[in-house]
Amino acid sequence: MKKIVDKLEKDRILSDEEFKTLLTTDDEEVISYLQERARAVREKVYGKDVFVRGLIEFTNYCKNGCLYCGINCRNTKIERYRLTKEQIVECSDLGYSLGFRTFVLQGGEDPYYTDEIIVDIVKTLKSLHPDCAVTLSIGEKSRESYEAYYNAGADRYLLRHETITDEHYRKLHPSEMSLGNRVRCLNDLKDIGYQVGCGFMVGSPYQTLDNIVSDLKFIREFEPDMCGIGPFIPHEDTVFKDEPSGTVDMTTRLLAIIRLLLPDVLLPSTTALGTIDPLGREKGLKAGANVVMPNLSPTDVRDKYKLYDNKICTGDEAAECIKCLTGRVRRSGYEIAVSRGDHIKVNNL
Ligand code: 5AD
Ligand code: FES
Repeated sequence: MKKIVDKLEKDRILSDEEFKTLLTTDDEEVISYLQERARAVREKVYGKDVFVRGLIEFTNYCKNGCLYCGINCRNTKIERYRLTKEQIVECSDLGYSLGFRTFVLQGGEDPYYTDEIIVDIVKTLKSLHPDCAVTLSIGEKSRESYEAYYNAGADRYLLRHETITDEHYRKLHPSEMSLGNRVRCLNDLKDIGYQVGCGFMVGSPYQTLDNIVSDLKFIREFEPDMCGIGPFIPHEDTVFKDEPSGTVDMTTRLLAIIRLLLPDVLLPSTTALGTIDPLGREKGLKAGANVVMPNLSPTDVRDKYKLYDNKICTGDEAAECIKCLTGRVRRSGYEIAVSRGDHIKVNNL
């Protein structure tokens, strides 16, 4: 069965049945071989470097009602907050001094932040830290809005597709949201020139093996610069509160498969993976991930940005977080790089 792994590495695609075999086999030897090849490919492209992205969670207001998400608009139990431009700048200054060269501005879809405000924040961050990349993760917008942010200097955009199967998408989202618009957004972002990230949750409610295979084929075809893959974790104030979490095993298999599908993709070992297993992020790095995203948000708002239960790092200062992560990265055999960590395009390995 190791042959399937070799085929994946060589052809960068598999048949549906072969994908399913890799996702379901309990042959430990095959699973560790898959991860071994994923690590080898990752090291060929990025060496031992792990890139850090400073995550600034600047608003937990959200106009959407995604059924899985703890900050969705129907949750009346959480305390909502917004950061001012000055607070965001403070986070970035602190991050810069700690060695971060990418800032990810992430938030719910919050109409309070008009395009004008976002443009102003992006311009300010880029003028204060011209050697840094600014990534936005603020959801579905019009093409014009995406263009405005890009012209203001935004370099990258993260928008997970969540699932590429329409029927599944509709089970995770309210009827006002559509997969068609998600994909429209992703295509616009790419067309405009952003480095784009898509991705999905592993083990989200109703997810089938066929759904995952479709997601893998979509990722291969879309060729994102980044790909966010983390386990689904229930949030106590959502309708999915009693659903089981995704597993470390499935998440790490998928990270390894995606590394072999797209050898140069930027692949984070997510906070969600670190939440379901104390060594989850280390396991992600060993399965081919090459990015970590420590939290730079002010400590007093961190526990309010809870997309899921038991989120880690909500009580730690940014400096502690990066120290802790540096240790974890080293113990996994890698080194944190002080650089923007742009996507390297490799045509022939
Ligand atoms: N568990 C894990 N990940 C989640 N996200 C949202 N809610 C959850 C949850 N309950 C992910 C979504 C979203 C990203 C910002 O966080 O995939 O795109
Ligand atoms: Fe949609 Fe939070 S409610 S991502």
